[in-house]
Amino acid sequence: MDHPPVSPSQEHETLVVLDFGGQYAQLIARRVRDLKVYCEIKPYWTDPQSLRQYKGILFTGGPGSVYAPDAPLCSPEVFSLGVPVLGICYGAQVMAHLLGGQVAPTGTPEFGKTSTAFEQGSLLFQDVPESVTWMSHNDGVSQLPEGFSASAHSAHCPIAAMEDPQRRLYAVQFHPEVAHTEYGSQMLHNFLYRVCGCQGDWEMGSFAKAEVARLRGQIGDRKVLCGLSGGVDSSVAAMLVHKAIGQNLTCIFVDHGLLRKDEGDLVEQVFRKEFDMNMVRVNAGERFLGKLAGVTDPECKRKIIGEEFIRVFEEEAAKLGHMDLLCQGTIYPDVVESGSGQAAVIKSHHNVGGLPEDMGFEGLVEPLRDLFKDEVRRVGIELGIPEALVWRQPFPGPGLAVRIIGEITPERVSTLQDADAIFREEVAKAGLEREIGQYFAVLTGTKSVGVMGDGRSYGETLALRAVSTTDFMTADWYPMPYEVLGRTSNRIVNEVPGVTRVVYDVTSKPPATIEWE
Ligand code: XMP
Repeated sequence: MDHPPVSPSQEHETLVVLDFGGQYAQLIARRVRDLKVYCEIKPYWTDPQSLRQYKGILFTGGPGSVYAPDAPLCSPEVFSLGVPVLGICYGAQVMAHLLGGQVAPTGTPEFGKTSTAFEQGSLLFQDVPESVTWMSHNDGVSQLPEGFSASAHSAHCPIAAMEDPQRRLYAVQFHPEVAHTEYGSQMLHNFLYRVCGCQGDWEMGSFAKAEVARLRGQIGDRKVLCGLSGGVDSSVAAMLVHKAIGQNLTCIFVDHGLLRKDEGDLVEQVFRKEFDMNMVRVNAGERFLGKLAGVTDPECKRKIIGEEFIRVFEEEAAKLGHMDLLCQGTIYPDVVESGSGQAAVIKSHHNVGGLPEDMGFEGLVEPLRDLFKDEVRRVGIELGIPEALVWRQPFPGPGLAVRIIGEITPERVSTLQDADAIFREEVAKAGLEREIGQYFAVLTGTKSVGVMGDGRSYGETLALRAVSTTDFMTADWYPMPYEVLGRTSNRIVNEVPGVTRVVYDVTSKPPATIEWE
């Protein structure tokens, strides 16, 4: 297969985050990009000579102590490249340790908000008054390396920051990348613009324009096939390729009949009608429901849907004749290899929509492989994709199948679609759509008694689920206002036949998962 296209680092001023493990690397890179400077992530063992090309280097935090036998450490050569370095937390200790300073337990570990004072002469702390920083450490720098001075202090951490401005080496014991550090963004801004001399040339408008031109060059007059799911990644990827090559792109949209109410029509309306994209919609609902008849085990449901999806896609692709390239909505977090070798686990779910590798394509087109999710959304808006699709909350590949506990029948699918649509409408009316990470309705498979008019009824119990989350690995149940719950419940039992009772799920993840199956 073709190799991934030229990365923006060859065209933009770029910083690099050296990842020493933990979960900080992506957050730091996103903060840098928010400040309009392109930023990549590399593992801590990256060859130092290859780091010369960057405008600056950031070291992440990480687990453990620099003195541990298997502690992640970079080559000391990194400090003599002439490229500015900012070490954060564990990264600060790595810098101190490798340059001849000392790291030791601080005596009083600091975790959380800590009042910190800054040396006003420091470039890193220009326009930063005494304020709160977010600390999370047992160890600290106890003796400065030669050439360094302390540039920030807190009650239990006399060297909360250190610097050698001559060599442009800076280090902070706290985390400037988290929102709890009041002036964290100003500090990163100072590092980028005052220390590294960046100009700020990373903007989504110019990304979209440049990417369309680049795709035109990469693809030439070859034909591209894209699997469109209606999710933001595949939608934006397809849109960029469409702008580049027009009718030489064909999208296949497999509607497995387990989408939310009216969702398939929205996708078709937007891409085929408004944007005039070459799109095949395969209405395979009956076929999928046929395969799922009588199946109640969640993993079996997933497997059946995953396999059937591939089969339908292959059949439709075969009807289209030869296609040279496959377009995929891969994004940067899918690509990054974590320094600690522990890439995000969330991908293990993505078992639907994944296509086999042997479909005979010459190569891949992956226009989003350098972008984070929020950047993908901004590109989507630039390209004129409606907000309903750009801000669509994550939706599992197997769709409503994993929200219908027990057997999936056409009636239960339509009951759930109607109830879920009411819940979404009420959340939108309350203006909470973007505040809640994910929210949906579940048919619990439990029947319960109700009274309708003068008679008893016996119907389905429906659960509402809403969670706040940033990474979907952990989540808190969302404290939904009672009025929203009340209105939703009232409407559902009145408007959706077959539902007699509505309950709200107040379980966090862990121990529960977000989905019920
Ligand atoms: P859980 O339920 O594991 O979900 O807490 C975490 C996130 O993953 C989504 N999810 C899936 N996505 N195929 C997918 O593409 C799946 O089989 C699947 N199961 C869960 C879920 O919606 C949530 O965003």
